[in-house]
Amino acid sequence: MGLMNCDYRIAIVYASVTGNTQAVAEVLAECFQAKGFLPDVCEINQFDVNKLRRYDIVVIGTYTWGSGEIPAEIQELFEAFEELQRPELVTAVFGTGDSFFSEFCGAVNRFRDMLYVHTNLAATLKIELMPQETDLARCEKFVEAVSRRLMDTDKMRKRKAT
Ligand SMILES: Cc1cc2nc3c(=O)[nH]c(=O)nc-3n(C[C@H](O)[C@H](O)[C@H](O)COP(=O)(O)O)c2cc1C
Repeated sequence: MGLMNCDYRIAIVYASVTGNTQAVAEVLAECFQAKGFLPDVCEINQFDVNKLRRYDIVVIGTYTWGSGEIPAEIQELFEAFEELQRPELVTAVFGTGDSFFSEFCGAVNRFRDMLYVHTNLAATLKIELMPQETDLARCEKFVEAVSRRLMDTDKMRKRKAT
């Protein structure tokens, strides 16, 4: 019998100071739950990077700091992906930013480029400050892309194994 969605392990790990990115993480968690997944939603300071290997999908959420920079508290996670050596791991990155700044959601761009090289990057999502009603459809599309990639990757893995 095939795996149920709830048998796959998903982590949503995010950095958030004023709550915008946390709000998106919560919306995404609900979208995953609507598809039958049971994601672990974790603030970066509560997440042990050594547990990355346990997951089938890791979704990263980050705000942007400085001039398009990654926040200091999520830097260790960034480096852990560079050293992970799990190119099949399905990942996705989302973030909130303020288009007033010259590089909108620069931290998402930096994660995207690194995850594309080191993992199986499925989707990215950038949201202006606090998520609005109109962002819900974009969140659903993001989750759809991530779950589709997991299923495709799983199918390919099984095909290779036979
Ligand atoms: C000092 C400072 C620098 C920032 N730099 C950027 C930036 O370069 N690009 C961007 O898109 N947003 C930038 N922002 C906006 C934050 O990323 C944005 O407010 C974000 O939604 C905060 O997320 P949080 O509520 O999850 O902490 C900056 C904010 C501050 C206070």
